[in-house]
Amino acid sequence: MPKPTTLPAWQALQDHYRELAQVPLRSLFADDPDRFSLFNLHQDDLLFDFSKNRITSRTVDLFAQLADECTLSEDIEAMFSGARINATEGRAVLHTALRNESDRPVVVDGADVMPDVRRVLDQMEDFSQKVRSGEWVGHTGEPITDVVNIGIGGSDLGPLMVVQALDHYADGPKAHFVSNVDPTQLSQTLRGLSPETTLFIIASKTFTTQETLANAKAARQWILDAFDSFEAVKNHFVALSTNRTQVVEFGIDPENMFAFWDWVGGRYSLWSAIGLSIALSIGMENFRALLGGAYAMDKHFRNAPFHQNLPVLMALLGVWYTNFFGAASYAVLPYDQYLARFPAFLQQLDMESNGKRVRLDGRQVGYETGPVVWGEPGTNGQHAFYQLLHQGTRLVPCDFLVPVQSLNPIGDQHEILVANALAQAEALMMGRNEAEALAELKGEGLSETETERLVPHKTFPGNRPSNSILYKRLTPAVLGQLIALYEHKVFVQGRIWQVNSFDQWGVELGKKLAKVILPELENDQPISSHDSSTTGLIQAVRQISEK
Ligand code: F6P
Repeated sequence: MPKPTTLPAWQALQDHYRELAQVPLRSLFADDPDRFSLFNLHQDDLLFDFSKNRITSRTVDLFAQLADECTLSEDIEAMFSGARINATEGRAVLHTALRNESDRPVVVDGADVMPDVRRVLDQMEDFSQKVRSGEWVGHTGEPITDVVNIGIGGSDLGPLMVVQALDHYADGPKAHFVSNVDPTQLSQTLRGLSPETTLFIIASKTFTTQETLANAKAARQWILDAFDSFEAVKNHFVALSTNRTQVVEFGIDPENMFAFWDWVGGRYSLWSAIGLSIALSIGMENFRALLGGAYAMDKHFRNAPFHQNLPVLMALLGVWYTNFFGAASYAVLPYDQYLARFPAFLQQLDMESNGKRVRLDGRQVGYETGPVVWGEPGTNGQHAFYQLLHQGTRLVPCDFLVPVQSLNPIGDQHEILVANALAQAEALMMGRNEAEALAELKGEGLSETETERLVPHKTFPGNRPSNSILYKRLTPAVLGQLIALYEHKVFVQGRIWQVNSFDQWGVELGKKLAKVILPELENDQPISSHDSSTTGLIQAVRQISEK
């Protein structure tokens, strides 16, 4: 596969960029009063407005051409049909099978994976019903009131984000999440809980992750301290994993293990057994609605022409800003308190997937790949970092996520929220030129010298792009659509950049070195050969801990 930068569409985009870079968004809107109709799409429950981007119809044509030249259609089919596209780990990539509502088989190594998918979903349904109804009891016969998911990365961020996002629908035991190996998190979580009514979910694809096993062992000890009987582990621990041997070794009854498979990537796993905490919190019906929303987006992604394909357009807009405008990051700005952890979830989804600098063929990319992803709920961000978005030197494309209705209305607060979202996108795009700043200052009755002095500070360059995604209100189906939209966007970008979006070797080196350093923190242990900074820090830790 030739480098994307050598493809005719990329070259054409380069020329097109040179022309368009001179044209402010404001004038694109002024020249075409109907620009919104041209650049917005309704898909299921989402309205995607991409008109505030630095594009014309020609740009979208070139996006589609680039996608064609990158053989995107074939790549999409390869993913959905179970080809081993995760080439560095030799695995298929089939999170879409987890929400496949059709009768279509999905075949890996000659076997349809769908019966296993359905079996685990049924097992989750059965178990969550038992726990939620009080039929499942703890060691002393008490029903479960609190569930603690112990996992990290994809075994934490997805379920945690979804449980928070769908809190409005929560009617099961209270879900808690412990991920950090910092003992403070587990201690703080357990402080308010009773062993008799607490169920631990040990969520780990590999069941070898250091942080998760450390927390899981401490939680097991907490249960053993309370009941003084290993039998209690059976009622208070379940496991979500691909590694049955390690689960059994830990002492969890294999009956209480919920399986998934190597073709489910960690950051794509909330749809699998890893979503058990979600099902316990909101019930299986709602969990299936979440899957249904994602399935709707899967069908759209697989079938829609590129010009009308939300994930494809979003992905190419990202490529446009990353590779042509030089943007190094993008901000996700939910005007929805329920989506407070959505940016954190997207950080793993996007940065662990596309934060790569070699292509699938092992050669250096020679162009920028995955951007830094960040964000906070919108109005809070306005009072923190929006200054930089509006008047800083960097271009930061933004995604505004806006529910039209509140699930918790109080007076006109939600209208205030929505007005702020729309206003921020407008301000970023329009800016305020010198003449406008001058006129406003004059209206304030300032002296001429004072006015002149302030004008540069009060102008906004504008021309800053954003997408707005509107939905009526956050339901499980809407959330499923949103998550799948971003998943597929990341996939498309990975294909354009020719990186493997499904491995994560970049997280391994630090883990390995930590294992070397751990024993060296003890005073009586020899310190192996490190750089002088690391050695100095190890010695400082030893000295400080002695005092
Ligand atoms: O941080 C690396 C990583 O492998 C992630 O990709 C994964 O989601 C996380 O660790 C947790 O892994 P596991 O589910 O195997 O404990």
